[in-house]
Amino acid sequence: MAIDLDRARAETPGCRTVLHFNNAGASLMPAPVLDTVVEYLNLEATIGAYEAEAREAARIDAVYDSVARLVNARRDEIALVEHATRAWDLAFYAVPLGPGDRILTAVAEYAANYVAFLHVARRTGATIDVVPNDEHGQLSVDALRDMLDERVKLVAITHVPTNSGLVNPAAEIGRVTREAGVLFLLDACQSVGQMPVDVDAIGCDMLSATGRKFLRGPRGTGFLYVRRDALERLEPPMIDHHGAEWVARDRFALRPDARRFENWEASYATRLGLGAAIDYALEWGIDAIRERSWQLADALRKRLSALPGVEVHDVGAERCAIVTFTVAGVDASAAKAALVADAMNVSVSDVTSARIDFEARALHSVVRASPHYFNSEDELDRFVDAVASLAREPLGRAGV
Ligand SMILES: Cc1ncc(COP(=O)(O)O)c(C=O)c1O
Repeated sequence: MAIDLDRARAETPGCRTVLHFNNAGASLMPAPVLDTVVEYLNLEATIGAYEAEAREAARIDAVYDSVARLVNARRDEIALVEHATRAWDLAFYAVPLGPGDRILTAVAEYAANYVAFLHVARRTGATIDVVPNDEHGQLSVDALRDMLDERVKLVAITHVPTNSGLVNPAAEIGRVTREAGVLFLLDACQSVGQMPVDVDAIGCDMLSATGRKFLRGPRGTGFLYVRRDALERLEPPMIDHHGAEWVARDRFALRPDARRFENWEASYATRLGLGAAIDYALEWGIDAIRERSWQLADALRKRLSALPGVEVHDVGAERCAIVTFTVAGVDASAAKAALVADAMNVSVSDVTSARIDFEARALHSVVRASPHYFNSEDELDRFVDAVASLAREPLGRAGV
């Protein structure tokens, strides 16, 4: 089903005030998500927070079903946590690693993940090896296959990086890791919500995602998927009395499911908001969302590339709804400031967010424009015009 643009925009209050090309940062929440969060907070204020939780227990519990449906998992394979990095860290720090063990990762790995690799490498003596890219600029599956040996204990890959339209070949990576019996952790923070992400088709053992980006959920929401048969190979790095029961003075028993990675305390308002965002996305259809958002991004790439002084930097055989570019003579932050001053939201990615990739491409920082299905062709025109005028008068605009 094609996206009904008028309806999508009418249901997105933010469309009335901004041109939002920052869906890779945090999207605009649609009204049903906002209403869900606000109504639940009102209920807490009216009858008491624990009492609201008890009254809405069934709806709160159904959020697991929504997440499971989204990624084709089972509900007991889902843990609800505060954001993607927390989900990723809980999985990563649970992998048993020792001296000489190897972690394989991608060139475009996200900074939060890479600093955790460095942290654990320093503590355990494990080593980090970066799988080179292929001729398209995406992870080379052949190189990955060649690098696998009995010392590789984890393959941890970012599906869609923070800083380009690249989509790493997750399902091919999954085929290789499953053949080798090596744990595969997928950072799906930027892919979930803009394209189908199916844990069975991909074959990952763990997957992390956030609510606020392409899923259009509230901030402070995220989830971790852990495959049932991977659970026993992982040791949660920390637990509380929700993840484990205190069964005797000297013993605890971990929960049998992925919720062993969760906290006892949680924001149920935003959890319900996450569930509402997922249900809303599923109602539109993830294929339809991908089709429209990728088509807008493709058009944006083509039109920006045609502008004198503008260079588009996306790589990969398949390119998604993240468009990155630079404007000659205009620092990326100054370009962003000029666009934001015109009520056009974008963000900037710089070398500290994906150092290996930026260094390999001799880039320091790029403007990141990330459209979504609710953006219009008219917004695309206005945005391209704004970038064109920035490119025409770089010095006049750079100081904004
Ligand atoms: C590829 C990637 N992974 C992980 C994250 C971290 O997500 P969160 O801020 O929800 O922890 C981001 C955030 O931009 C990201 O782009």
